[in-house]
Amino acid sequence: MAFVIAVDGPAASGKGTIAGRLAALYDYPLLDTGLLYRAVGVAILDGGGDLDDPIAAEAVARALDLSALDRTEVRTRAAGEAASRCAVHPGVRAALLDLQQAFAARQPGSVIDGRDIGTVIAPHAPAKLYVTARPEVRAERRWKQLVGQGEDVTFEDILADIHKRDARDGGRKDAPMTRASDAVLLDTSEMTIEQAFDAARRIVEDARAHHRL
Ligand code: CDP
Ligand code: CDP
Repeated sequence: MAFVIAVDGPAASGKGTIAGRLAALYDYPLLDTGLLYRAVGVAILDGGGDLDDPIAAEAVARALDLSALDRTEVRTRAAGEAASRCAVHPGVRAALLDLQQAFAARQPGSVIDGRDIGTVIAPHAPAKLYVTARPEVRAERRWKQLVGQGEDVTFEDILADIHKRDARDGGRKDAPMTRASDAVLLDTSEMTIEQAFDAARRIVEDARAHHRL
């Protein structure tokens, strides 16, 4: 079995940063699955469609052209909200499943970050992390990121977004955001990026030792 490192967790917990650094460390390909949902959300908005219409949203997800993915456009606050709204539709999730599972099958391994990697996409992944942090800490991180990108938002706006997104992602019926029973919880609230990466690396090294046995 491929050595999949599944990195799940809520918005702005630091999972993308950790996933990126683990991928560089092991020289594994990296898939940020949030980008897929963000791309679907942006494509629906660009086409003047309705994010809450499951049939229309699935059609957009099935026709998604990932080679045209604009990484700047999908990193906005609006794209995050749109992603989370269209991610509730089972048809959208199904449309993105094959691509993600094919990635998880890559040898010798890969790093995949998202919400349902350890539970749905790669339930047998040998290394699973569930990265989290207090909502206020995550809001502060995301707020700084968005202001740095030129968005005109307040900390309070982003804290409200974070609470709404946690409730929607954790409360949906299909593939809700939740820690897999065998995922190691990593709370980065009081950690620098360096400390969080170091803790993640130790968890993965432990899993690698078991994987080789
Ligand atoms: O970067 P951030 O954590 O804010 O979000 P993201 O990982 O880019 O994901 C955006 C949204 O896509 C999430 O709020 C989820 O609703 C959805 N998503 C999902 O449902 N399943 C995944 N595997 C990844 C993202
Ligand atoms: O992928 P996710 O949305 O979970 O978060 P991220 O993009 O990895 O991190 C969100 C922001 O928080 C980035 O600007 C990181 O540099 C920052 N961050 C931090 O300040 N301290 C950490 N321990 C982790 C991330």
